[in-house]
Amino acid sequence: MTVTIVGSQLGDEGKGALVDLWGGDADVVVRYQGGDNAGHTVVEGGEEYALSLVPSGAVRGKVGVLGNGCVVNPRTLFEEIGTLRERGLEPDVRVAKRAHVIMPYHRRLDGIEEEAKADSDSGLEVGTTGRGIGPTYEDKAGRRGVRVGDLLDPDVLRERLEYAVPQKRALVEDVYGLDVGEELDIDALHEEYAEFGRRLREEGMAVNCSDFLHDRRESGDNVMFEGAQGTLIDVDHGSYPYVTSSNPTAGGAATGTGVGPTVTGRGEVVGVVKAYLSRVGEGPMPTELDGDEREETLASDIREKGGEFGTVTGRPRRIGWLDVPMLRHAARVNGYTGIAVNHLDVLGGLDELKVGHAYDLDGEERLSLPATTERWAECEPVVREFDPWEAFDVAAVAEEGYEALPAAARDYLEYLEGQLDTPVYAVGVGPDREQTVVRTNPWE
Ligand code: IMP
Repeated sequence: MTVTIVGSQLGDEGKGALVDLWGGDADVVVRYQGGDNAGHTVVEGGEEYALSLVPSGAVRGKVGVLGNGCVVNPRTLFEEIGTLRERGLEPDVRVAKRAHVIMPYHRRLDGIEEEAKADSDSGLEVGTTGRGIGPTYEDKAGRRGVRVGDLLDPDVLRERLEYAVPQKRALVEDVYGLDVGEELDIDALHEEYAEFGRRLREEGMAVNCSDFLHDRRESGDNVMFEGAQGTLIDVDHGSYPYVTSSNPTAGGAATGTGVGPTVTGRGEVVGVVKAYLSRVGEGPMPTELDGDEREETLASDIREKGGEFGTVTGRPRRIGWLDVPMLRHAARVNGYTGIAVNHLDVLGGLDELKVGHAYDLDGEERLSLPATTERWAECEPVVREFDPWEAFDVAAVAEEGYEALPAAARDYLEYLEGQLDTPVYAVGVGPDREQTVVRTNPWE
């Protein structure tokens, strides 16, 4: 049995809480894309764990796997494992040998390119997390990347570096006219990364992901696939070019792990939806609350109440009403079997409540997203008003279940079910695992 958890919006939907909750019935939790750009906060017994690379299931003693579709920064990996160990956990983390390695020069190039885009007035600046994600995937597609398996063999690692590093050096020095440092010193890189390889081998962490997951499934294990980021920052299905460089959508669970699509497709695919919308970085956001002072105050209230500041970067997130065309797109692209709606408590006690039900584009009403970001930016939301509900007693709702939610909140959820033709499996009413109202457990 497999369960895939996917972000339905722009990332930061609170997937970690669901992965943590339903990870309880999983034996193995696998990330299939992205790298240390994905901040996830897991709250367990009042303790808060901020992770960016280690799968959140590792906090609960599951086997955490970074699939071949991930890009792995070994510095972050060992740092996070070290921090978890200091706090008394013994995370069991495996890393696909086919996954690509984020090298220090990828991070440098990420920053350089973002700056160049900003200076060029091209409007192409993405507002990346600066973690080197894009440049690493570029090298993967360009067949000049360094893979985790290459770290295990010092000779292969040297060969890879001897090809890639002079190219990057020329790019930094000759194209951008900048100085280079240790991040482009072959010997220093070789020494540090061969040592990471030694640790990966010594700790038995490097695996053939497809074989590993096959064996675990054959022995009856439940496998959970954890998508980082969200559908709208998918490189194929998102708001290109304001996207990350991988596939957070459900198809990525197959290509990013070596488990066939007929296997992941027979399992459950649960879309995580934040009850409103937030966005880090650039790109259109038709339902953004930034029109006037009243909207800005509303956005700022939601931001404070929802803790809408980047886990990785600390940046304040942009805030908007729920964008339903975006969710219809996500439901199609991912083929959801159910959705989990998070942060419903944050909307409690507002004076007004709206959703972007459709878009108006050139005077026509559209229910889904245009395929180009430029056209998307021209969309005006067609809003639908809902009755707001009072702030509710989170503990009581968590204890008594769905029926204890205010009637207006249930109307909001049932509207969503109708629009997406997908049942609400769970409702997040607070940050703790116990503060999720579960209607359907995808494992059952
Ligand atoms: P990158 O993934 O660092 O290349 O950033 C590309 C875009 O994805 C930027 O707009 C980031 O803000 C966004 N992004 C990357 N990771 C996350 C995440 O975990 N949550 C929300 N946005 C993200």
